[in-house]
Amino acid sequence: MSERDDGVAVPWTRRRFSAAVGAALVPIGCGQPSPGPAPARALTAQDRLLAEFQGAYPDEMAATGRVHEVELVAGPTTLEVGEQPAMQVWAYNGQVPGPTLRIRLGDTLKARFVNRLPMSTTIHWHGVRVPNAMDGVPHVTQPPVEPGGTFDYEFTPKDAGTYWFHPHVRGSEQVERGLVGVLIVEDPVPDPYSQDVLWVLDDWRLDPTGQIDGKFNTRHDLAHDGRWGRMRTVNGRSDEVLRVRPGERIRLRMLNCANGRAVVPHFGSLRPKLLAVDGKYLRAPIEMPRFEMAPGNRLDVDITFDLVSERVPVSDLFSPSRPHVLGSIEIDGEPVDTPQFESPAAAHVPRWTGGLEQPVHHDYRMNARRGGEHGIEWMFDNQPFTGHDAHTISIDLVRHRFHRVRFSNESGRLHPIHMHGTFFRVLARNGVPVDEPFFRDTVLVRGRETVDLGMVPTDIGKWMVHCHILEHAESGMMTLVEVHDDDWAPSRS
Ligand code: C2O
Ligand code: CU
Repeated sequence: MSERDDGVAVPWTRRRFSAAVGAALVPIGCGQPSPGPAPARALTAQDRLLAEFQGAYPDEMAATGRVHEVELVAGPTTLEVGEQPAMQVWAYNGQVPGPTLRIRLGDTLKARFVNRLPMSTTIHWHGVRVPNAMDGVPHVTQPPVEPGGTFDYEFTPKDAGTYWFHPHVRGSEQVERGLVGVLIVEDPVPDPYSQDVLWVLDDWRLDPTGQIDGKFNTRHDLAHDGRWGRMRTVNGRSDEVLRVRPGERIRLRMLNCANGRAVVPHFGSLRPKLLAVDGKYLRAPIEMPRFEMAPGNRLDVDITFDLVSERVPVSDLFSPSRPHVLGSIEIDGEPVDTPQFESPAAAHVPRWTGGLEQPVHHDYRMNARRGGEHGIEWMFDNQPFTGHDAHTISIDLVRHRFHRVRFSNESGRLHPIHMHGTFFRVLARNGVPVDEPFFRDTVLVRGRETVDLGMVPTDIGKWMVHCHILEHAESGMMTLVEVHDDDWAPSRS
């Protein structure tokens, strides 16, 4: 049963914010050193939640000084998938999926972006805690990059893990056409896996001639869970085979970059361990659970292969009655010694059980109505987002403070909610506490479901919150939150 308090129907405004969060608490570890002995003060619930958060991930990352300079050019090209005729696509550097950028934690990425598309675009670095100006949101953090234009992105990631990048202009069209790339931030000393492999999972909706169906944001897609295509690919191929030798221990990084389709990967007779979700390591590795990978989600798994030769299909069990083979793993050849090392999944992940005692800072109600450019508008709090240039801030958050934010799905459709600029933890589903041993940046909210999230933002600025079913986002299911410095007071905003 949902414990939603829908009685609070008035959207929270900047003015109401001050009443919601006490103004004077000094977050642990962030205050100025005080000259004398600190005055005795009972620990508040907020203090305890922040103390639990300490050590989860850093505010800043010291740069190693190593700089990776890359050029990313978005433009049209062709892709051949299986027996299909060559497909006209849009790609970064002529590849689908785009180039995989691999750097180490502490390294700086300098990406010169060149737009050779027939329309404006940007690059958003999904899941990466970047300075706000590098977040790639048109009109909010940067001007859109017009055809022929360039933009220089530069940042030093603060978290190791598997991240990705994609446009934030007309995403439902640009991502579907092939504009997707991966950013892997390796640990300072990567573990000696036999192989470190990437699988980019996608689907495509084609027209009868075998080209990408040019009808985007259809009423059908909007009335359902976005655009689900029939042609499924892994790394741009319909027949991906990962070849390993008996005894190998691999790290497999999976990204779901589909517009709308959710995937539940299943590894048959293999026994993978889940290492990381949305880039961040777990508290400890766990047996691979049934995990609904929504568009945007990443999963890293650790698999050791037995001393047998076999070919194992990797399937999608999102619809258990209609399993689909995504690709396969072929174990063959001379056996090798299995690399032995401690799992890298040993992160500090707060339990935040007290988080559910905090007031709900904001309850986003999610629903649709008829109207708008596409015939159906998806909304947060009955407000469709009508363009990045006409945005308003829906809520304020304070940096270095714990916030509990609720998403109440009043519709029957799926809504994978993604927040820019912060990780979060799922605290409860339909009011029932859950303890996922990991952070996320995207969570699938099912029809009529209510999900409570806990978060401590680390970076100030205006950040998007949106459904990652790109058709839902495009038709209005986006909003902005603003993270303020911890000495911010509403009266000064
Ligand atoms: Cu991958 Cu704004 O999202
Ligand atoms: Cu949605």
